[in-house]
Amino acid sequence: MSATHILITGANQGLGHTVAQQLLAREATLPNHPPSVHIYVGARSQEKADKACSDLKKYAAEGNTLEPVIIDLASDASIEALGNKIEKLDILINNGAILGDMQESTSPAAVRKNFANVYETNVFGTAALTYALIETIRKSKEPRVVNVSSGLGSIQNQLDPNWAFHGMTALVYPSSKTALNGVTAIMSKQYPDVKFVAVDPGYTSTAFNGHSGHQPVEVGAHAISHAVLDPKAKTASYVEKEGVVLPW
Ligand SMILES: NC(=O)c1ccc[n+]([C@@H]2O[C@H](COP(=O)([O-])OP(=O)(O)OC[C@H]3O[C@@H](n4cnc5c(N)ncnc54)[C@H](OP(=O)(O)O)[C@@H]3O)[C@@H](O)[C@H]2O)c1
Repeated sequence: MSATHILITGANQGLGHTVAQQLLAREATLPNHPPSVHIYVGARSQEKADKACSDLKKYAAEGNTLEPVIIDLASDASIEALGNKIEKLDILINNGAILGDMQESTSPAAVRKNFANVYETNVFGTAALTYALIETIRKSKEPRVVNVSSGLGSIQNQLDPNWAFHGMTALVYPSSKTALNGVTAIMSKQYPDVKFVAVDPGYTSTAFNGHSGHQPVEVGAHAISHAVLDPKAKTASYVEKEGVVLPW
């Protein structure tokens, strides 16, 4: 039987790297591991992708394989090249993202620049990569796209005065994840044969937040890996750890 082919963007560090590790190692607490996986380890440069693969190799259970691939979500050429290169894909994990300028200076030029920068990667590049690969994904028996979102992208959470992060009023990065949630919902209508899931890993200690996150990277990655493998995951869903449903 052919291996389940999975692409992870931004897999050279942080959550993406640990998701690759968990899937390669057949992490025991995860449900429904396929018999074998082939992981495309995505990074912005060949050097980073190669290094990530050499670090990850030791975790690969028998029969599981990995392959370095270059993907820069801010570059159409990079997206097109990867779309042309990958011939088999069952699951796309759209994980790569940036935080942008959290100081959020409000001059018109600064607002425009920050939105352009963050949306370029987190929304535009992610949607473009999904389209570049969707016809390949649709050939899979169990096609799935997992968009790594954030609880900060939930409009209902943002407006709930009792929500743990209610005091956090940053605009650009959180709204990029709201937009990504919209992409998840609308693409699920465009491609009803593909399962689209948005997942919030939770506030996790990675370079993204200067390691201020409350939970270790293994815990956040587990939430993503669970969304990747969970046979009960529904399309157009927005979940956190163990598939618990979040409000849009
Ligand atoms: N950490 C948290 O608390 C938290 C909470 C909720 C959601 N998330 C989400 O989880 C995902 C992973 O974040 P993380 O915490 O693991 O952060 P991280 O350690 O900073 O990793 C982010 C990854 O994205 C890659 N990336 C950045 N720009 C890219 C681009 N233009 N094209 C392709 N890849 C790009 C980075 O590559 P380089 O190494 O080359 O920069 C890196 O591999 C993100 O989608 C983030 O929004 C994180």
